[in-house]
This record gives sequence, C-alpha cells and structure tokens, in this order.
Amino acid sequence: MLTAYDAMIASVFDEAGIPVLLVGDSMGNCHLGYDTTVPVTLDQIAMLTAAVVRGTSRPLIVADLPFGSYQESDVQALRSATRLVKEAGAGAVKLEGGERSAEQIGLLVRSGIPVMAHIGLTPQSVHAMGYRVQGRGEEAAEQLLRDAKAVQDAGAFAVVMEMVPAGVAGEVTRALAVPTVGIGAGPECDAQVLVWTDMAGLTPGRLPRFVKQYAQLRETLTEAVSAYASEVVSGAFPQAAHAFE
Ligand code: KIV
Ligand code: NA
Repeated sequence: MLTAYDAMIASVFDEAGIPVLLVGDSMGNCHLGYDTTVPVTLDQIAMLTAAVVRGTSRPLIVADLPFGSYQESDVQALRSATRLVKEAGAGAVKLEGGERSAEQIGLLVRSGIPVMAHIGLTPQSVHAMGYRVQGRGEEAAEQLLRDAKAVQDAGAFAVVMEMVPAGVAGEVTRALAVPTVGIGAGPECDAQVLVWTDMAGLTPGRLPRFVKQYAQLRETLTEAVSAYASEVVSGAFPQAAHAFE
C-alpha cells in the first residue's frame, strides 16, 4: 500500500501494480503545506480521493477520515464516510483509534462501508501523544492488542499499525485473523504502507527511521527544473523543433 493524492501519480502506482492506494490525511504534510494532519478537512480528502479514483482503475482506493469528521458519534462517522464513498468514489475508509473508535467502525461496517483501522501511533492525536513509538512495555503492548481485537471485532477488514515495536507488531499480527499493514512496525506485519513522497525521496529534511527511499525525486526534479530555467535564460530552449512555422 502507498499513499496517493492526485490522479497522475496514482496512475503511475496503478501501472506499477500497487494493490491498495491510501488517500491519507498525510496530504496535510506532503501536499497541502501543513505541519500536521490535524487541519485537513473532509472537503480536501473528498476532492483528492475523487482525483485518485479518476486516475486509477485497479487498486482499492482507501480514503482517510480526517480529524473531527468521526469522533463526535457513529452517526457523524457514517455521514462523513458516506460522502467519501458515494461522492468521491472510495472503496473503503480508514479512521484512527482502537477501542475508542470501535462503535464508529461497527456502524460503518453494518452500513456496507469497508473500514481499515489504524492503531499504535495515531497522528491526529499528536497534541496528546506526540510522535513516539507506541506499545512499548507490557501494559502498552496489552492495550495495543486489545485495540487490535476491538477493531477486528467491530468489523475492520485490515489494521494499520504505526510505530510499534517489531515484536509487539508480530504478536498482534499473529493474534488477528484480518491482515495488519505496518508502517514503522517491523517485518512481521502482513503488508506495509509508506507515504509516497517519503519513499520516493521527494520529502525534504529528516525522515523517520522507518522510511526507506527508493528514489531521489527531489534531486532529479531540481536538476530538471534548473536545466530548463538555464536553457530558457541562455536561449538553448526552445529550438525550431519546439516551434510552429
Ligand atoms: O495518512 C497517511 O498517510 C496514513 C498512513 C501513514 C498509514 O495514515
Ligand atoms: Na492518515
């Protein structure tokens, strides 16, 4: 699984055979210029989900429910999720929280909306939680397992686990019947997810330890853009081949 926030990039991931694309609220950080995922709105998720749906044909498109669009009640969650499925074309939604979100997950699933859960580090709670490894220590590991079982029992079809010690993530994975999708949760999860701008080397600055960069797009793009600018300045571009008689 990879994140995607627009039609063209999503079409590349479709061509590459990625089976699940997440229109994550990480768009706040890597597409909309915010410092956290907290300000992201349902309108923004809906607009970019529709773009990713239009740009792809094969992958399952999962849309994130943003902060404030589901915490109020199961009814609010259903109203928000319905918009993402019905108007934007998502095949499933994702929301954060284990036991605390089980009620919302239950109503969505009973209403016919597949739900991917998200436990461990939940970035929408950054102001309460910070960005640190979750599930460390016996008590925290037990809570993580309870969270995983609660979302599975509520009907989630898969569970994202973010920044959890590898051993604990392995235990949770073995305890669940539904697949786990890890991010910073070690090699024993059933699947993996990364933010695409991180794994492609477009995100500037220091990256979390769990990211592996498979390309250096920022460097490549900077070189291309600089070459274009200097050729325009020098007159090397455009040539007759690029012009109309
Ligand atoms: O928004 C996002 O990109 C996510 C993944 C990191 C799981 O929630
Ligand atoms: Na997210």
